[in-house]
Amino acid sequence: MWGSSMKPGTARVLVVDDEPEVVDVLCTLLASEGYDTTPAYRGSEALEAITADGFAVVVTDLGMPDVDGMTVLNHAKAHDHTAEVIVVTGRDDVHTAVQCMKAGAFDFVTKPFQLDAVASVVHSAANKARTEAENRQLRGAISAIKRALMLSLQARDSYTHGHCLNVAILARRFCAHLDLDESVLEAVSAVGELHDVGKIGIADFILLKPSKLTPAEYAIMQTHPAQGRDILDPMGAFGVESELVLHHHERWDGAGYPIGLKGEEIPLVARVFALADVFDALTSSRPYRRAMPYETAIEVIHNGWGTQFQPDITDEFLSFIGAFVGLSSPRDVGEAFERARHEEEG
Ligand SMILES: [Fe+2]
Repeated sequence: MWGSSMKPGTARVLVVDDEPEVVDVLCTLLASEGYDTTPAYRGSEALEAITADGFAVVVTDLGMPDVDGMTVLNHAKAHDHTAEVIVVTGRDDVHTAVQCMKAGAFDFVTKPFQLDAVASVVHSAANKARTEAENRQLRGAISAIKRALMLSLQARDSYTHGHCLNVAILARRFCAHLDLDESVLEAVSAVGELHDVGKIGIADFILLKPSKLTPAEYAIMQTHPAQGRDILDPMGAFGVESELVLHHHERWDGAGYPIGLKGEEIPLVARVFALADVFDALTSSRPYRRAMPYETAIEVIHNGWGTQFQPDITDEFLSFIGAFVGLSSPRDVGEAFERARHEEEG
């Protein structure tokens, strides 16, 4: 009778109607199918129940004397946007039911209804709510793994950790400034902080060396983008996210690594990210050199116009970065990143 091989599970369902017999028959039916049902005989009772307990699915009558179904719908969605609401309405009020759909209702059922039809809609809604809850859990688990990776990187090399945080903020803001496609912004948000995570795989004597790397050591250091891609790959960092991690050291003139892509062969996300990456690297202190002042870093970026970086994106970066760092004189880059971090955390 469910029209699907999936079991309904024990989702919590609230049934609201000012006709007690409708509530009772629906609750009995849904309970027999395994749902954990709660009856509400008035709209106001439904609002209280929703506030007190979360429900995966709410089945609500539309026209009720005290609080109407639209209010129940809005309250349920405001309380938990993943809750699915099914509106039950008379045949003469389909227009309002359509309004409810626009307000986020899962579906509507017209009275008089077939019990099987209501059960089938509740089943679909419960499945959708369950899938969303599972996805939310999965996203939580992935972000915990990312945090663990960041902490691992921090334990190995505190400079790289701080650098990754700064670059992610700067790149996100630069992407927003450029009004780039949502997928680019999402990739920067998802893996920007982890773009150097492959450095976990670089030996200490190279990663932490307080002097210039030898050519052989530099060749090993250059494996970090591919190592990073391989670390993030099992977490589902595909597409644009993977491109960012793998190609953030490519150069516009083709002299970068790991592939040596040239011009627009380099994914857009990597061309944009490279500017934020280099700017932060130049303006941060390393064991073997002091942080460059803002003006010197800008000069270096300018010198990379058309060689290291894409010309028009470099022009955009040079006008963007002034506003990011602020107008203090001398411009304090560290302070600007500090401010940006506080803004993002707050
Ligand atoms: Fe890197």
